[in-house]
Amino acid sequence: MSLETLERETLAQVDAAADEAALEAVRVAALGKKGTISEQMKGLGAMSPDERKNFGAALNLLKDKVTEAIATRKASLADKALNERLARETVDVTLPVRGEGRGTIHPVNQVWEEIVQIFGDLGFAVAEGPHIEDDFHNFDALNMPPEHPARQEHDTFYFNEKPDGSRLVLRTHTSPVQIRTMKTQAPPIRIIAPGRTFRSDSDMTHTPMFNQVEGLVIDETTHMGHLKWVLHEFCKAFFEVNEVRMRFRASHFPFTEPSMEVDIQCSWKDGQVKIGEGDSWLEILGSGMVHPNVMKASGLDPAKVQGFAFGMGIDRVAMLKYGIPDLRAFFDSDLRWLRHYGFRSLNVPTLAGGLS
Ligand code: PHE
Repeated sequence: MSLETLERETLAQVDAAADEAALEAVRVAALGKKGTISEQMKGLGAMSPDERKNFGAALNLLKDKVTEAIATRKASLADKALNERLARETVDVTLPVRGEGRGTIHPVNQVWEEIVQIFGDLGFAVAEGPHIEDDFHNFDALNMPPEHPARQEHDTFYFNEKPDGSRLVLRTHTSPVQIRTMKTQAPPIRIIAPGRTFRSDSDMTHTPMFNQVEGLVIDETTHMGHLKWVLHEFCKAFFEVNEVRMRFRASHFPFTEPSMEVDIQCSWKDGQVKIGEGDSWLEILGSGMVHPNVMKASGLDPAKVQGFAFGMGIDRVAMLKYGIPDLRAFFDSDLRWLRHYGFRSLNVPTLAGGLS
């Protein structure tokens, strides 16, 4: 067969290859070890030097042409395959929604809703504040002036400095909502503020974004007995137990005085925690009587009003209530995890109908 014929036939085969597998077969048949073009090399040995030179050059040219034709065909076949796939996999957004029970409610949303239900029943309203805060609301007004050591403990995410030298922050706790509420609402105040908070921290029990719920009660006579009662009622309702012992430990927060950390009674069996029995303790929140400086910074007169505040980790109590070991998994968006720990979408928690 002449090289011209070989070229014509091989290029025709390349053009005719309907998919990448067929093209690969054409390549092997022509350029493979025993391919039609490779076979031509064998003739070279019997040729005179001049013949060999000419034929060799022509053969190399043919090889290059075929190689290039294959590459071009390959690219166009890949494009075609992709276009076909894109056409096949279009999503018809006008289709009716799938039956109930496919999607699930994330445990954080579930627990968030449970908390709102319980405090709503106790007469608390829900307040909100921005995720991006200024120094005043996140620190200063909470009795944490710039030099205060507690600022360091917060592992704050700062924004770039503004021309005046100030820096906005991602709020490190929901406590700035205390300030915003006291500045805009006259006592009596009874609010909770669930929301996202941010600290530069990550391990089994810390994620850079996490959820807290703040509580704030201000009027003329609210005292620590009320704080203890509210938290006790909350814990019984939330953990769905008839009784739970609680321990109020003296602690320190710049924005409360006195300050208490609250532990709840629990037992550990086979690495599983049970709330409301046993003789171990688990810390679940920080609390205290609102510091007079915080009231002053918010425009209230501490000689006339008083009250309490608390802050609790929503993700943390979700882990405790539903036995979820690793906090980071909350935010991985792993469908298998979501199906395992998620809640049925139409099962809205209510105190009357059962929380979980
Ligand atoms: N803001 C505190 C924290 O994030 C919790 C807290 C809130 C403590 C209100 C007391 C009163 O750790």
